[in-house]
Amino acid sequence: MRTQVAIVGAGPAGLLLSQLLHLRGVDSVVLESRDRAYVERRQRAGMLEQGTVDVLRSSGVGERLDREGLTHHGLELRFGGAGHRIPLTELTGGRTVTIYAQTEIVKDLIAARLAAGGDVRFGAEALAVDTGAPSVTFRQDGETRTLDCDVIAGCDGFHGVGRAAVPGLRTYERDYPYAWLGVLAEVAPSTDELVYAHSERGFALHSLRSPRVSRLYLQVDPGDAIEAWPDERIWSELRARFATSDGWELRDGPIVEKSITPMRSFVAEPMRHDRLFLAGDAAHIVPPTGAKGLNLAISDVIVLAEALVARYDEGSDKLLDAYSATCLKRVWRAQQFASWMTTLLHRDPAGDSFEHRRQLAYLDYLVASKAAATTLAENYVGAAPTL
Ligand code: APR
Ligand code: PHB
Repeated sequence: MRTQVAIVGAGPAGLLLSQLLHLRGVDSVVLESRDRAYVERRQRAGMLEQGTVDVLRSSGVGERLDREGLTHHGLELRFGGAGHRIPLTELTGGRTVTIYAQTEIVKDLIAARLAAGGDVRFGAEALAVDTGAPSVTFRQDGETRTLDCDVIAGCDGFHGVGRAAVPGLRTYERDYPYAWLGVLAEVAPSTDELVYAHSERGFALHSLRSPRVSRLYLQVDPGDAIEAWPDERIWSELRARFATSDGWELRDGPIVEKSITPMRSFVAEPMRHDRLFLAGDAAHIVPPTGAKGLNLAISDVIVLAEALVARYDEGSDKLLDAYSATCLKRVWRAQQFASWMTTLLHRDPAGDSFEHRRQLAYLDYLVASKAAATTLAENYVGAAPTL
């Protein structure tokens, strides 16, 4: 078996890379260990920077996104019992963000690849990558096979096999003393724009998925089991953390999905070894506050696709050689922003009241100073994709 680019992982990174390469006449095979239903249902974040929306559109998968995505021009910071709007679009020269779940992006990309006759294999687990040959050994339907290629794209997420094949990898890591309990509820959102709430009881986020589905998050202890959070406890804790003095009310409804995710910052350097290129969660994880994870994964594969096309069309390796450094610049910027926003809004589990007051002082400054609000807005909407 042979292809030009062997892509390990059918998350947003692997699938979009395959689509971008296809549009530029480069062949790929995507190997995904899970089945299609699993990857299409896995709940993740759903906030897209404008650059992400633009690339999905120009890749021919923007139709449903344009119809069903919710365009946002601002967000709310809620603290001390009151809400304060940050006018993102006004502060960033007209940029917007869009709410569209990662599950939907994955569905759209899989449909587009299969409709074009693309080779996307589910239930195909990569066992090992040989970065020199280069090739990927994988198992599908009980059979072990080898896929030969020019280049391997390790888009296999945080728990994949790609990263382990990079000798001398340097990793940078930070754990946070909190986790997020994420909830999908069948109830009309109680807000038009995202609400990031700081409270004495901890952080809460009200996001949305559609006019009938809400997405909510609660800061919880990383050691908490999901059984400790029956639905009634979740709603009462959300109500307490979102409470305002003007009588705002949180609508509740059936919870159809809930899970607890630990928070971490992680960066692996370099993002390349030999003919293996890492992209997305395989190379970096950001804490979810600010929703940079998906946008970073998309940005990596835009850079990689351009670099591969330059190699095939012009025989130039210049962009491939710059791949890791180009991506890492954006990764560290996002890492800084996500950890800043995380520590600004989450409650210190030790209940440090100095920390609490320091956070409130900065939140006051953020909503009073145009310069401070612009810093938040610029980072939140994201820079244009690199290149
Ligand atoms: N062989 C084949 N596939 C594998 C293997 C393997 N050995 N190991 C992992 N995979 C698959 C996983 O099953 C998963 O579908 O690789 C895929 C990686 O996809 P994601 O985890 O979605 O990672 P990525 O495409 O980089 O997208 C990053 O995911 O975690 C969120 O916030 C993050 O939104 C961001 C996005
Ligand atoms: C989401 O909608 O899932 C979401 C939005 C914003 C965040 C994190 C998650 O900061």
